[in-house]
Amino acid sequence: MSKLPKLGIMGSGSGSNCQSIYDAIQSGELQAEIAVVMSDNPDAYILERAKAWGVPVEVINCDGFKTKFPEECQAAVGARMKEYGVDLICLAGFMRLVKQPLLNAYPDRILNIHPSLLPNFPGLHAWAQAVEAKALESGCTVHYVDAGMDTGPILGQAVVPVLPDDTAESLHARIQVQEHLLYPAIIKKVLNELV
Ligand code: GRF
Repeated sequence: MSKLPKLGIMGSGSGSNCQSIYDAIQSGELQAEIAVVMSDNPDAYILERAKAWGVPVEVINCDGFKTKFPEECQAAVGARMKEYGVDLICLAGFMRLVKQPLLNAYPDRILNIHPSLLPNFPGLHAWAQAVEAKALESGCTVHYVDAGMDTGPILGQAVVPVLPDDTAESLHARIQVQEHLLYPAIIKKVLNELV
C-alpha cells in the first residue's frame, strides 16, 4: 500500500494550479498522491484534467446555491475527503468560502493560493484590483485557510512587478507563472512538517 500523503484538491475553474501540483508529483519533486479532485462546477476544466490523469473526481453538491457553500454540504465534503484518506486539502481556484464544518474536519490542513500579496487585495479579481490601485507590485500567496476571506496564516509569497502597461489579464498571466512554482513548493514544505 502506498504511504504517500494524500491530497484532496478543490477547484471551480481551469485547474492550472492543480496541473502544477500534478506535474510536480509526476516529476518526483513532490512526494504525494492526488486522491481526489472535487469541484462545485460540473463543467470545470479541472475535472477534465483529473479524469485524464485517472484521478477520481467528484462534483460538490451545493444544494443549488450559486455562491454559498451550505454547512451540510461542507460537512459532506469533509466526510468524503476522509473516505479518500486525504491528509491535506488544497484549494486551487475554489470560489466558495470554506467555514467551520470543513475547517473542523481538517484543522490546519487546508491550504489556499491567492493571486496577490496578502493582506493586500483579498477577494475576487485580485489581479484587477492591483492594476486599478496602480500598485507597483503584486504576486501570490499560499496560506492556511481560516473562516475569513483570504485571512489565514501566510506560508509563502512570490512577488510579481506590476508593469506600466499591464492589463488585468497580462498581470494575472504573470502571477500564474509564479503560482505554479510556489504552490507545489509550499505543499512540499507543509507535507514534510506533517506528523
Ligand atoms: C488562481 O489565480 C488562484 O490564485 C485563484 O484562482 C485562480 C485559479 O486558477 N485562487 P486555476 O484554476 O488554478 O488555473
